Amino acid sequence: MPFDLRDIPLDQKAEAALAARGLAYRVIDPQDRAALAAWAQADSRGFHQPAPHGPELERELGVLAERRVHGVYDPTLDEAEIPVATVASWPTGLSVPGGRSVDGWAVSSVTVAPTHRRRGVARALMEGELHNAVAAGAALAMLTATEATIYGRYGYAPAARATTLEVDRSRVAWAGGAEPGRVQFVPAAVMREQAPAIARRAVARTPGEIDRWSGLLDRVLGTHHPDSDHARAVRVARYDDRRDQPQGFVVYRIRHEGQGAGVLEFDFMAAASDEAERALWRFLLEQDFVSRIRGRLRSIDEPLPWLLADRRAIRVTESHDHLWLRILDPVAALEARGYTGSGSLVLDVDDPQGYAAGRFEIEFSAKGHAEVRRLEQGARDATAHAARRSRPAQGLRLGVTELAAIYLGDVAPSLLARAGRVVETTPGSLALADRLFSSPRAPHLSVWF
Ligand SMILES: CC(C)(COP(=O)(O)OP(=O)(O)OC[C@H]1O[C@@H](n2cnc3c(N)ncnc32)[C@H](O)[C@@H]1OP(=O)(O)O)[C@@H](O)C(=O)NCCC(=O)NCCS
Repeated sequence: MPFDLRDIPLDQKAEAALAARGLAYRVIDPQDRAALAAWAQADSRGFHQPAPHGPELERELGVLAERRVHGVYDPTLDEAEIPVATVASWPTGLSVPGGRSVDGWAVSSVTVAPTHRRRGVARALMEGELHNAVAAGAALAMLTATEATIYGRYGYAPAARATTLEVDRSRVAWAGGAEPGRVQFVPAAVMREQAPAIARRAVARTPGEIDRWSGLLDRVLGTHHPDSDHARAVRVARYDDRRDQPQGFVVYRIRHEGQGAGVLEFDFMAAASDEAERALWRFLLEQDFVSRIRGRLRSIDEPLPWLLADRRAIRVTESHDHLWLRILDPVAALEARGYTGSGSLVLDVDDPQGYAAGRFEIEFSAKGHAEVRRLEQGARDATAHAARRSRPAQGLRLGVTELAAIYLGDVAPSLLARAGRVVETTPGSLALADRLFSSPRAPHLSVWF
């Protein structure tokens, strides 16, 4: 989607809703450093973080310059230049089953100042973002959420989970094979050069991952601020295959809790192959003078239990809904992903906000591609009539949130039917939909955004 993000006209509905409360809704010029710095201050305040400064602020300004940044301003305040609400968004690819990618719209930094909460400001911003996403031609919008109760009302649903795993080092006995390559430490600056290519390949093989951006890699590796405590604490290890080709890397640190052995912590591993993933896990698990290994934002189906002699050495200490999706264009979204097998389905989608509402006829080819037709009302009546006379097409009735929940294969349609949230309109449709929508690899997002 190569276009200037500021070309999208301001959502007039959001502007009017905010103006009615005496607030101004603005898109910030990416060249306006002072406005972006004030916005960054409001964003960090919203998440109860210290205000960024120095190299960290510079990194953030670089990230924001590539996003559409909205601020909401209250002209009556003493500090009127600091927005009372923030949101930033950008077009990005999202990996989907079948090794493909869909055009998405990522929404981030949703904050409302505690002085201005619960008066509809977040609602105006979120509805504005759906408008922006559609204007950008995105098939869906996406976000990560601090709380599970905020975004369902706008049509978002959890679509990929993440877990925190802890492994007891004293019980680690490797049961996997030996990999032919080797792991070596690499300076962060060197890794920063190589990281985008490896990360791109790692993202492509995992449904639910989004394209990485430069500022994220800088933050993870600490390369924007090499003297910071973070940059000095992290270690970067890379796996090269038997031909010395880099295939993955992990960024970790050892945290000392008291006098004894440290806890190895990591939340960023990019593996472009299964071999690299196994080798990096082994490297992390077999370190000495370490009591535990704690991996954050891990998948719900890591191969780890099958790599250790004692699978009970692993504890899942936390698991959460991580990636939230909002389907806006069901035709584009459904055609973007790959499916398991062939068949045909009719989906009747309900969407209170209108974007994704309608009846969709889907033909799944043996190669796992979908051809989707949105039936107009007249055609829907004709289909219903034909269905009454002949064998009706296999079908499901579901809401836009349920569509998002099944989209990457995180949950089976039949489970949502058990919860009363998907209705089978013809017998056998659920079994067919379960098979078609399943993903051979569990969807997983391994970053916050
Ligand atoms: C979450 C937050 C953005 C909400 O902003 P807000 O302007 O107070 O929200 P609104 O007044 O527009 O509320 C819109 C709807 O969301 C609901 N809502 C707002 N905050 C909520 C919360 N924390 N949990 C559950 N529901 C919430 C409101 O009840 C309202 O519901 P309704 O319109 O269906 O009746 C704000 O509390 C905030 O900045 N929190 C700290 C940062 C944060 O967590 N951001 C989310 C990042 S993922």
